[in-house]
Amino acid sequence: MTVRTAWTLSVDPDRIAWLTLDKPDAGANALSRDVLTELDARLADLERIAPRGVVVISGKDSGFVAGADVKEFTTLKDTADAEALIDHGQRVLARLEHLPCPTVAALHGFALGGGLELALACRYRVAVEDERLALGLPEVMLGIHPGFGGTVRAVHLLGALDALDLMLTGRTVRGRKARALGLVDLACASRAELPALARRCIFEARPARRPNWWRRLVSSPLVRPWLRNRLRATVARRVREAHYPAPYAIIDLWVRHGADPRTGYEAEKRSIAKLAVTATARNLVRVFLLQDALKSQGSKQPPTIERVHVIGAGVMGGDIAAWCALRGLRVTLQDRAERYVQPALVRAEALFEKRIRDVAARDAARARLVVDIEGAGLATADVVIEAIVEDAAVKRTLYADIEARMKPDAVLATNTSSIVLEELAAALATPGKLVGLHFFNPVAQMPLVEIVCGAASAPASITTAIALTRKLDKLPLPCRSAPGFVVNRVLVPYMFEAMHMAAEGHSIASIDAAAKDFGMPMGPVELADTVGLDVCLHVGRIVSQALGRSMPDLSQLEARVAAGELGRKSNRGFYLWEAGRTRGANPALPTQPTAATDAGDLQDRLVLALANESVAVLRAGIVESADRLDSALIFGAGYAPFRGGPMQAARERGVDDCVARLKTLTARYGARFSPDVGWESMRAAR
Ligand code: NAI
Repeated sequence: MTVRTAWTLSVDPDRIAWLTLDKPDAGANALSRDVLTELDARLADLERIAPRGVVVISGKDSGFVAGADVKEFTTLKDTADAEALIDHGQRVLARLEHLPCPTVAALHGFALGGGLELALACRYRVAVEDERLALGLPEVMLGIHPGFGGTVRAVHLLGALDALDLMLTGRTVRGRKARALGLVDLACASRAELPALARRCIFEARPARRPNWWRRLVSSPLVRPWLRNRLRATVARRVREAHYPAPYAIIDLWVRHGADPRTGYEAEKRSIAKLAVTATARNLVRVFLLQDALKSQGSKQPPTIERVHVIGAGVMGGDIAAWCALRGLRVTLQDRAERYVQPALVRAEALFEKRIRDVAARDAARARLVVDIEGAGLATADVVIEAIVEDAAVKRTLYADIEARMKPDAVLATNTSSIVLEELAAALATPGKLVGLHFFNPVAQMPLVEIVCGAASAPASITTAIALTRKLDKLPLPCRSAPGFVVNRVLVPYMFEAMHMAAEGHSIASIDAAAKDFGMPMGPVELADTVGLDVCLHVGRIVSQALGRSMPDLSQLEARVAAGELGRKSNRGFYLWEAGRTRGANPALPTQPTAATDAGDLQDRLVLALANESVAVLRAGIVESADRLDSALIFGAGYAPFRGGPMQAARERGVDDCVARLKTLTARYGARFSPDVGWESMRAAR
């Protein structure tokens, strides 16, 4: 039996050595421990062979190297274990860097994280400059930073400012920008030309690229401390050090060592090893894997979906239609009259302008989106998406009207945010065709789509809904049809608790700060204002009533809605708004707390209300697993990713502690905090 290896080494008649990476049984190359060990052995061969030059190239169609093997991070026991893994990678890449001949990384597609670090260890980089070329150091998104020498080599190649920008934001540099930045020395248009280009680099013996003098000046020991505070302040606008230490560690590394190879590699290793075993890094890696799990759903042979008909061109339907057209589907958009569709077309245009650079491609997207007041598209659509007003009777009337006009095997997907499917399916002769396809607002930004499966939904309809969601590059989250489904159901007690606190007279700034201190990107009051207070009240009431829950004190929320102060969209809600930004609290709000509150209670009332409802949703079997529930809240509601989701956060805090606190809150604030019985099975599962 022959063992397939990841690397193959061949030497051509010009004595150029070709090191080709093609990891067996994988769609993309990753720099796992084994791949690095094998590379080390090939480098030893090269030291003996002494070729004229070496080209490192990928045998995969997908790209060069996607990064280090993220799964290996989950197996790290402690800092020493992490240091050993990093040390191995650093040594192998140092060996590549120190080969006595010219070395070239020949890139196509992605070269990310460890993949780009491998390319940085070569003297030159050549690339296929097309829209698939994607270079970056996204480690910061996993709570770490480059560890195979990238923090040192990126600064040497690009200068500190550009290198730090890449590492601190984790952004991907695409196409021609990679050459402009200096990541790529020479570019070609196709993969077929890549070997010749690599060869040219070796024969020409060009000098290795270095940043110009003023870029180098930035790294001088005099400038670094001065820049430190500015860099930290920029990062602090996005994330806190206590929640996300990695970007701060990147700045510290550079300020202390200035990418000096004599100390920089060692410091990089120690720093990343410390970060890799923090709860933040472990949770961010977990979130990355959860996202992968959502992406890999769906059948191997997905049904063909080419045409979509959207009914209701409002906030949601209009944006869903535009997104479908952007992603290559042919879309017909129906509403009661042409005038209701116009605003959606204006927004679609803005979306295409922003997302599609190529003029011809933009025209094509525009042409794929067709206004269709008569509903002619119903007859040919593979999926009909309904996004009309949130009223079961109106939706049923529509279904009765359109069912016979749809293709027999077409799927009817409703975007309802709170009506259970069983209530709607009653209007259909074939209830199996109905599923929920619950997009979140704003459609272009929110990655999650709940795939709501009603009691009667046919498996084929669910398969189609998942396939469409993936085609739209969104994350499908299958769930059972139950009031509020998953995300809204869990958010209602959290948001309503914030509304109750506001009614008690707590300042909205203190309520939002409590949530942000926990790690939420936005506080619940600002979130309510952003979603629209009318929507919050409506959905919250439907969900609470369907579950037979008693209402908290919503007097302030009701007062705002009654006064037409609906939040951001009317420039006045709990906050005053100007040009899409908050400008202080609405002066109509009470400011003196009428109820005494323990300092920690504000945060726990919010966070544990959310956790308690999450446990209830899981116990009721509305989602398949705790992992799925965490995914739903992170990708559908922006729940603090570094905490890994509500179930993970509860586990980390300790089930006993959560239950004890819920009991205390019940005694202080009422029965709505009674711990759900589901906590017992969590305790048993430990
Ligand atoms: P909207 O009020 O902005 O738009 C509804 C559109 O449907 C209007 O343009 C209206 O003219 C049209 N319409 C009403 N009856 C119709 C009929 N019989 N035939 C054709 N068109 C008709 O509402 P929005 O906010 O877009 O909500 C639509 C659906 O999406 C609702 O079920 C809502 O619960 C759900 N949803 C809303 C979210 C939000 O944040 N607004 C988020 C997720 C779901």
